[in-house]
Amino acid sequence: MNIGPHELANNVFAAPMAGVTDRPFRMLCRALGAGYAVSEMVTSRRDLWASLKTSRRANHDGEPGPIAVQIAGTDAAMMADAARYNVDRGAQIIDINMGCPAKKVCNKWAGSALMQDEPLAVAIAAAVVQACAPHGVPVTLKMRTGWSQSHKNAVRLAGAFEDAGVQMITVHGRTREQGYGGHAEYDTIAAVKRATRLTVIANGDINSPQKAKYVLDYTGADGIMIGRAAQGRPWIFREIEHYLKTGNQLPPPLVTEIHQVLIAHLHDLYAFYGADAGVKIARKHISWYTKGLAGSASFRHAMNQLQSTEEQLSAVNRFFEQQAQLHEHLRYEEELAA
Ligand SMILES: Cc1cc2nc3c(=O)[nH]c(=O)nc-3n(C[C@H](O)[C@H](O)[C@H](O)COP(=O)(O)O)c2cc1C
Repeated sequence: MNIGPHELANNVFAAPMAGVTDRPFRMLCRALGAGYAVSEMVTSRRDLWASLKTSRRANHDGEPGPIAVQIAGTDAAMMADAARYNVDRGAQIIDINMGCPAKKVCNKWAGSALMQDEPLAVAIAAAVVQACAPHGVPVTLKMRTGWSQSHKNAVRLAGAFEDAGVQMITVHGRTREQGYGGHAEYDTIAAVKRATRLTVIANGDINSPQKAKYVLDYTGADGIMIGRAAQGRPWIFREIEHYLKTGNQLPPPLVTEIHQVLIAHLHDLYAFYGADAGVKIARKHISWYTKGLAGSASFRHAMNQLQSTEEQLSAVNRFFEQQAQLHEHLRYEEELAA
């Protein structure tokens, strides 16, 4: 599996998720089996590039390559400028965001709203490709199936993006109108794969090794991308990779391993954001890791009151020590009830 000159370890990708896929989380996903992880989106607004939020998002220190930066905006020249800026700062792949359901940039709807204005969407892709070509940097794009149920234009747009020089397209199997509701559908993704010679990545509602295989087989896509199912479960990438390779499912991970993974993740968050912001950002990850484990509701409630790194770490330690006394392997209550 390649993107331009970059060879990837496998075709199971971590999705960009603003506020989630920061550098600590991307590195964790890669360490636990993701072949590729795209950064959170960076605005094309030059006036925001010096902000702490944007500069954190542009921080790739120690991250394994290829470094992929996603940019969002509504103006072709500004997007080309943003691409050049990120390439100068080490981006090896530029991904254009036409997948987000709600993002205002310069008072205009960016992300998937661009799919409604096909000439503008194609002009943006062409301008970004032109800006990246002299640096040998491939351009990829993430989009939805269309604007609404009656305006599914992913196939037509994908063809135009291919002509513009885009090398890989990820399709989330929902329309913009759907937001995150309903179910992802995979027929449109299959149609994009059939209609173009692009590398196509299928995305949307993939939450198990079996579903990953089903979506790959059904769509003929070259790879899959996982977003929400990796929240609090970054080892899903190795589970999927193993299943795709062998047809066998890995046993659930050891409680002791996930305990260590989470503690290391917390230390990374504290170092990346500083203690105060780190503790707050860590809360949502701790909630995701522990959701569905025995006693987690009251644990999560108490944990959200804790303010210091020391208190947070010891609460997590106590919780996982209790889990280890209950089971050797991670067991969710719904599985135990089944
Ligand atoms: C919290 C959150 C933030 C997201 N941020 C982005 C983003 O910055 N760029 C983007 O292209 N998609 C973004 N997405 C969409 C995901 O990349 C993905 O397409 C979507 O969640 C569907 O995949 P899933 O069902 O595996 O989660 C975001 C999704 C979530 C849940």
